[in-house]
Amino acid sequence: MSQNRTDIESDIHPIIASRWSPRAFDQERCVETEKLLSCIEAARWSSSCFGDEPWRFIVAEKASNPNGWQQMLATLAEKNQLWAQHAPVLILACAANNFSQNGKPNRWGQYDTGQAMMALALQATSTGLITHSMGGFDPAAAVATFNITDDFTPMSVTAVGYPGAIETLDEGFRTTETTPRKRKPISEIAFTTWNRSWNSEEQI
Ligand SMILES: Cc1cc2nc3c(=O)[nH]c(=O)nc-3n(C[C@H](O)[C@H](O)[C@H](O)COP(=O)(O)O)c2cc1C
Repeated sequence: MSQNRTDIESDIHPIIASRWSPRAFDQERCVETEKLLSCIEAARWSSSCFGDEPWRFIVAEKASNPNGWQQMLATLAEKNQLWAQHAPVLILACAANNFSQNGKPNRWGQYDTGQAMMALALQATSTGLITHSMGGFDPAAAVATFNITDDFTPMSVTAVGYPGAIETLDEGFRTTETTPRKRKPISEIAFTTWNRSWNSEEQI
């Protein structure tokens, strides 16, 4: 099991470097409650616009809440179910549509919720867990199943657990598990002005 990171341009913290999104989960190994709590705690301490904390999480643990977990799994796209069925924990992240303090639209609610999920993922990674977020799920089904109120938008479902053997995966997923991970070069994403590279000053 490796995170297959290639084309490294600069040093980063080992926890950030080792986070990735595997699909092979160990279905025999539960996530300890303390570790899961720390993951949510990490998300809780994320930054947010106006400190509004627009994130909410629905945590479905297979061991303690098999029905809830099964219902969460059922909201996933079929292709995601194929591998996520081995993950002992599924976490649905929802973002507030409006600021709690004044009811005005919160354009940053989804941004903040994404940040919180990255904090969760990094905390998980630091304790040997793996995470894999999914946009491939049915938000309407999630709303209906978990009674989510219409002031929140379901954003993602994240599988959390321990790494498993690649052989447990469907054939089609095995190659993606070992394919080198790539990123756009820094010159294509960091600018001094639009489309002018920050680090080389060459126009792209
Ligand atoms: C919001 C979001 C939605 C995603 N949706 C899916 C998905 O439905 N199915 C899937 O297999 N992976 C999904 N992924 C995982 C991405 O494909 C993965 O993060 C990306 O390829 C980068 O790989 P890495 O996380 O290993 O760096 C999603 C990731 C994010 C952040």
